Amino acid sequence: SILEMEVEQINKGNYEHYMQKEIHEQPESLTTTMRGRLIRGGSSKSKTVLLGGLKDHLKTIRRSRRIVFIGCGTSYNAALAARPILEELSGIPVTMEVASDLLDRQGPIYREDTAVFVSQSGETADTLHALEYALENGALCVGITNTVGSAIARNTHCGVHINAGCEIGVASTKAYTSQIVVMAMLALAIGDDTSSSLGRRESIIDGLFDLPNKVREVLKLDQEMKDLAKLLIAEQSLLVFGRGYNYATALEGALKVKEVALMHSEGIIAGEMKHGPLALVDENLPIVVIATHDACFSKQQSVIQQLHARKGRLIVMCSKGDSAAVCPGGSCRVIEVPQVEDCLQPVINVVPLQLLAYHLTVLRGYNVDQPRNLAKSVTTQ
Ligand code: G6P
Repeated sequence: SILEMEVEQINKGNYEHYMQKEIHEQPESLTTTMRGRLIRGGSSKSKTVLLGGLKDHLKTIRRSRRIVFIGCGTSYNAALAARPILEELSGIPVTMEVASDLLDRQGPIYREDTAVFVSQSGETADTLHALEYALENGALCVGITNTVGSAIARNTHCGVHINAGCEIGVASTKAYTSQIVVMAMLALAIGDDTSSSLGRRESIIDGLFDLPNKVREVLKLDQEMKDLAKLLIAEQSLLVFGRGYNYATALEGALKVKEVALMHSEGIIAGEMKHGPLALVDENLPIVVIATHDACFSKQQSVIQQLHARKGRLIVMCSKGDSAAVCPGGSCRVIEVPQVEDCLQPVINVVPLQLLAYHLTVLRGYNVDQPRNLAKSVTTQ
């Protein structure tokens, strides 16, 4: 009806699509996700994290033998992005489970495990069944959802709401970045306050405070990503290489491109390049390489050189000022992004890929907010 259409236009504000609105509101959604949870007093000693929904269970989580992340789609990718920092700060082994695969295998879950269920809707059938399975097996179950009162929020022992605000676009964007931030805060909350980790913890907390500003900065790449989308509009396929903290970014960028732009896309862990993907490289196939500055940087530089030697059509994402270091002789297209603390970099790096997927979709004439065959919340198995 006309009334419904008007309400929709009001909800979208100045944006044409919900996905576009949700990408651009990430500085604000991240701010609400962190509100009241990061404490930075006058003296540096008082920098800390407060997650009210977990405080009675932190001791049990710290004593667990393993933390296992369970989710589907974008929520799984968010957990994958947070895995390295959780391992680093907690010292506890962290494993990953796609909810349906855990159920297919009836994989082992023990009483000594902490199982963390990540879900925007809190209603995804596979994740919910995996929760029932983990409860039967006696694990401590933690929920990370965006929906107060959802089935996963109600049935877990404890949890954290991501508070990203209502997400309407089927393809998850702002929930993804807020999930990563919640899991980084979870890592800080679980990790010990030892003096050796103090500096690292403070840098992460400072980085979190500054993150909305850095996201505002990276959003300025909107036009550049639209121009890139114009170049890629007729392609059949797009590869995305990442590693370390940004392996998840490669998977999530590729997922966005395939689910909304309906273009085949594959996220590839760069360390596996020589074990197959290299055979695909020629002068036609576009390849995004994520090579922002972190401990894996020199390894990514060598990946770029090898792709370049095979005449790969490279689009390199790097930290501001690193263009010459990643693209000798200006032989590739470069996307420069602001640099943040390494474990938070996935929040920044996914944004240009969200924008690219959005513009590709609009230019190719597909439905951005409701891609064919997909649903926002998959409540059947
Ligand atoms: C569907 C949506 C995805 C989402 C996934 C998991 O496939 O289209 O955007 O990532 O479900 O949903 P959840 O609500 O559990 O995060």
